[in-house]
Amino acid sequence: MSKFQPFVMERLLSKWENQVDYNLSESGVHPATVRELIPEPEQVEQLLSTEFVYSQANGIPELRERIAALYPGATSENVLVTVGCIEANLLSLQTLVEPGDEIAVMAPNYLQVWGAAQNLGMVVRTFDLSSDRKWELDVDSLSQAVTDRTKLIAVCNPNNPTGHIMSSAEMDAVVAAADRVGAWILADEVYSGAERLTDEQTPSFWGRYDKVFANNSLSKACGLPGLRVGWIVGPPTEVDEAWARHEYLTISVATLSNQLAAVALSPEMRPKLLQRTRDYIRRGYKIFEEWMQSQGDLLSIVPPGAAAIAFPRYELEVNSTTFVERLIKEKSVLVAPGDHFNVDRHLRISFGLPAEYLRSGLERIHQLLTEMAN
Ligand SMILES: Cc1ncc(COP(=O)(O)O)c(C=O)c1O
Repeated sequence: MSKFQPFVMERLLSKWENQVDYNLSESGVHPATVRELIPEPEQVEQLLSTEFVYSQANGIPELRERIAALYPGATSENVLVTVGCIEANLLSLQTLVEPGDEIAVMAPNYLQVWGAAQNLGMVVRTFDLSSDRKWELDVDSLSQAVTDRTKLIAVCNPNNPTGHIMSSAEMDAVVAAADRVGAWILADEVYSGAERLTDEQTPSFWGRYDKVFANNSLSKACGLPGLRVGWIVGPPTEVDEAWARHEYLTISVATLSNQLAAVALSPEMRPKLLQRTRDYIRRGYKIFEEWMQSQGDLLSIVPPGAAAIAFPRYELEVNSTTFVERLIKEKSVLVAPGDHFNVDRHLRISFGLPAEYLRSGLERIHQLLTEMAN
């Protein structure tokens, strides 16, 4: 059997996120409560009489319709409901690419697709968002990474960990590269709706090109990661093929999650959840920015356009995993090391958190930075 590539960042988070005093490793905002989602007694009553059936395996009709309504021209035939975007991404690879095929993955990135593709026996090339150019797409590196053998191009937009939002020109460049070789685009769009500076939602790759799987979830922009609801939106034939793989993996999303997800995406609730997320991001980034300013030349950053994460560079002669291991042990704070995105000397720090909690966590990071600088 070939060597297994573990998902190193999720391994670190799973082990420590509930052990430390301050968890600043999440990329979404502080999660919403059941009460915020279903505030009315009649809604609670309705949920209490839900039977624990296996729900409709590809997602209950009401939910699929609400998801489809977010994508111009889509119908529920285009939608498969999955256990988070994590399942959507894995099914996308299993459906659209064969072992031995080549794929091109954006870097830096949440390394799920990068690692899972290797575990599925695919050949993975990467193309860059350039740190020298405010994390903009490096079109030359894209051209080099996409060859005649490329079957799929994987992007994360808005990007984790940098928070970069691609411009129309950058998106067009990805579409042109895919079109040149007939590749699919796997667009992980989980941070769309979690913008910091605008209320305009980041546009989807859906509708820009025929061979697109647009994947998303309720975890980030809606602040509901524990519901474990995500989806694929794509052409009906391939979505059906992904459904066939979903039956092997999870059968269906939990019955209650299907129902609560339909509530979350209702025309009344969705805008409230998005506003809640943006409020957390905007309030939190102000606190983070003040903290950054007090760190002198030790830290520098390209401000993120979206997501509740900052990705500063630090000027210390220390590897990022070593730094994070000391941070956990000595200060009981968890952040994600740049190493886990294949970019050393960076830390991914979340700021979509209650103010006092965030300030206290940042203060402890400051303590370790100064101790190590001296
Ligand atoms: C880019 C990206 N995709 C997918 C996921 C998985 O999210 P979920 O399965 O909760 O939707 C994450 C989680 O952090 C992520 O950052």
